[in-house]
Amino acid sequence: EKGGYKHFMAKEIAEQPAVLGDALQHYLTDDGLNLPSDLDFSNISRLTLVACGTAFYACSVAKYWFESLARLPVEIDVASEFRYREPPLPTDSYAIFVSQSGETADTLAALRYCHEKVAKTVAVVNVPSSSIARESDIALPILAGVEVGVASTKAFTCQLLVLASLALKAARDRGHMTEAELKQHMEELRILPGLLTRALDLDETLNIVSNDLSEARDVLFLGRGAMYPLALEGALKLKEISYIHAEGYASGELKHGPIALIDSHTPVIVFAPHDPLFDKTVSNMQEVMARGGKVLLVSDRKGLEIASEGVWQTVQMPEVPDLFAPILYAVPAQLIAYHTAVAKGTDVDQPRNLAKSVTVE
Ligand code: F6R
Repeated sequence: EKGGYKHFMAKEIAEQPAVLGDALQHYLTDDGLNLPSDLDFSNISRLTLVACGTAFYACSVAKYWFESLARLPVEIDVASEFRYREPPLPTDSYAIFVSQSGETADTLAALRYCHEKVAKTVAVVNVPSSSIARESDIALPILAGVEVGVASTKAFTCQLLVLASLALKAARDRGHMTEAELKQHMEELRILPGLLTRALDLDETLNIVSNDLSEARDVLFLGRGAMYPLALEGALKLKEISYIHAEGYASGELKHGPIALIDSHTPVIVFAPHDPLFDKTVSNMQEVMARGGKVLLVSDRKGLEIASEGVWQTVQMPEVPDLFAPILYAVPAQLIAYHTAVAKGTDVDQPRNLAKSVTVE
């Protein structure tokens, strides 16, 4: 049932081009986006996105999309904080709950809190028969197929795809995107499975790098813009399956404290596609190197041409449209965690202390 792979996690990472393809086929049709027409973003004042763990990082990426494409104010929170914070919610707002299992206790409680307070509750789930799907006004399946590995991988990229489609719809509904621009962004999404396949070809490169990483006691991940939540996701993946202490930071936050951690034993993994924020991230990366830090730079051909000097290791990713880079860069984040854990000999699919579905708070 592992289909020739050593672990479910490896199989599920490799399945991403195929399951993303399924989700694309469902949500992007020749006529446009296939999303419920009563999910109309034109007159809402705010969007609230709530989830736990990896699903929360998917929400954190989506915040950048909803804000930049649809000019829609977005609040995000982890469900365990949201539910007890009992925040005031505008009645003309939507709340979206993202959950692979659809059974996470805190996310379900957050959903129940929102009933009757917001105009609509929306579930983005992998299990259509789950409590969160059943109790929401609208349930959108992510179509990732069964995910067995405790570390979420293909569910994350499929969550991102559904959230990206929603952000495009919001942009159209709110008059911030022309039909032609929508078509162009849909094309950008459609090329993702091919790009992910190419990123998966980096498996052996990342395997070699991960051998060194497995010796580290601490690892830092850096990113800017929508790459910041990806840095958080990379750190979560690494700590949960390899048990190496890892932290993700917004690169600009480094000098406000964490840079004190930098020494020659602490690898710093930088996710930096050559986008408008590239130069800023590179200058943070250089601050790390100036303090003896060893940097693993994950970028594209252009980025590596500019910034490889003095870098410990480079990983060359395919070029990708700026907006959807987080979906592609999830692959190296996952493969680094996977190979590092395998090198350490941990139980990759069933890491200690963790359960696939957290149905108690
Ligand atoms: C990390 C991971 C967890 C889950 C979190 C939410 O790899 O799997 O952080 O993302 O427990 O679970 P769901 O999505 O089922 O609500």
